[in-house]
Amino acid sequence: MSIAYLNGHYIELEQAKVPVLDRGFLFGDGVYEVIPVYAGNPFRLSSHINRLRKSLAAIYMSLPQSDEDWLNLCNTLIEHNHYENASVYLQVTRGAYVERHHDFPELSEPTIFAMMSPLPPVQKSWQATDIKDFSVITAEDIRWQRCDIKAITLLANCMLRQQALESGADDTILVRNGEASEATSSNLFIVRDGVIITPPLSEHLLAGVTREFILSLAQQHGIPYEERPIPEHELLLADEVWLTSSTKEIRPVVRVNDVTIGNGEPGPVWRRMYEYYQVLKERLYLGEISGEAQL
Ligand code: PDD
Repeated sequence: MSIAYLNGHYIELEQAKVPVLDRGFLFGDGVYEVIPVYAGNPFRLSSHINRLRKSLAAIYMSLPQSDEDWLNLCNTLIEHNHYENASVYLQVTRGAYVERHHDFPELSEPTIFAMMSPLPPVQKSWQATDIKDFSVITAEDIRWQRCDIKAITLLANCMLRQQALESGADDTILVRNGEASEATSSNLFIVRDGVIITPPLSEHLLAGVTREFILSLAQQHGIPYEERPIPEHELLLADEVWLTSSTKEIRPVVRVNDVTIGNGEPGPVWRRMYEYYQVLKERLYLGEISGEAQL
């Protein structure tokens, strides 16, 4: 039985209910975070909370919770649930108001909800992973102009994901003005001639915590990287293509629009990064570092 958090209470997930007048339900008026948990440690929680605050500020909301309050919430949820590897889904909506109005009500109590979902076990060696045959299509980004806000309004993302599934692929890389920005729920990286390339932060993509982490891993290990636009056609010229997120970590893509990337296998730069990531998680399990460890 999974235990969730709803407005100050820890209750069974099935018992967690919100009013139909909640603006999250009526307008998609809310934001969220997904935080990985390894060995009982929320991983890079402060980066997720900083981004949550930015998302809230962007939608004209702020909450009194301190970093410590959020940490306590996550830790209590982790204690109630018994997952080895998991993610915490944390959602804040503007809450319920007495009637349906587009205006943001001056007085409404936010709805704060969190739950946990299991993540697959850690695979130390990349050969053991089941992620070696991931394919994507590309499609025009039909989302709004504020993809930097981690908003709960994800219908366009879901439609774009479904488009991939209908055509036998696993995900969709989104293209705006001829440039590839990210995928439906992850950031985009390519590798060319040993250089890691990812699009620069803008309102067209989410500032991924994993993206930031990978750039710092690259820096630490002396792997060159660039933050610059990636024209759609460059995807097909890349030696490697990766998607990254808190739940996917670093996922190698071996086909884009049915064109094989590199030799059709996860590439050598990905393997290095994958192993650095796993070593770090291993150290978390051993209690050698904390989830906030700086590289
Ligand atoms: N998605 N871009 C989009 C559109 C995302 O939804 C996500 C995360 C990312 C990667 O961000 P991060 O590295 O901070 O997880 C990029 C989460 C996991 C989700 O919606 O489930």
